[in-house]
Amino acid sequence: MHRAAGHSLGTGVGFDFTLAQPAKARQLAEAGGFDQVEFREGRVEALPAEDASFDCAISNGLINLSAAKRKVFEEAARVLRPGGRLALADIVTEQPLTEAVVCDASLWASCIGGAAHETTYRQAIETAGLRIKELRGNDYEFLSGQARRASARYGVKSISLLAVKPDR
Ligand SMILES: C[S@@+](CC[C@H](N)C(=O)[O-])C[C@H]1O[C@@H](n2cnc3c(N)ncnc32)[C@H](O)[C@@H]1O
Repeated sequence: MHRAAGHSLGTGVGFDFTLAQPAKARQLAEAGGFDQVEFREGRVEALPAEDASFDCAISNGLINLSAAKRKVFEEAARVLRPGGRLALADIVTEQPLTEAVVCDASLWASCIGGAAHETTYRQAIETAGLRIKELRGNDYEFLSGQARRASARYGVKSISLLAVKPDR
């Protein structure tokens, strides 16, 4: 997340629901002398952040891992100020996934099992009150053979997306 108010460079806040990721990020920020960033433990479905407190929300490869994607986008809309932007890269699917895929823990960990149908994903963003401005596909190759096969069969793919919270 990015917050510009009161700082010429702005400040950034990183969220992750593990303890390990924020701890590692804090170490790296300290080593790099980045004093305009902070890291909080928290779920993306219930961000520990105030309403309308960010100019920009950024996410890479996380939302597919959440089973409550509508809630994730509602939270993004809540913490963004009017006119704020959501910029993300994530995994979606062109075909509905079968139960066997959705219930496979390895495929969830490969960012496939939790991938939403692209239409459902877009609808969840718009229903949350955000307006999609750009969406494009990314060159992305899954690593494991199982993930590659599932990707080819169901059209699982990487996208980048920009959405905006309307001014009013
Ligand atoms: C695939 S990694 C992506 C990490 C990072 N964005 C990157 O680009 O390297 C997914 C991260 O999301 C975190 N995560 C997964 N589900 C989450 C949730 N519901 N709330 C907060 N963090 C979550 C995991 O702990 C992990 O660090």
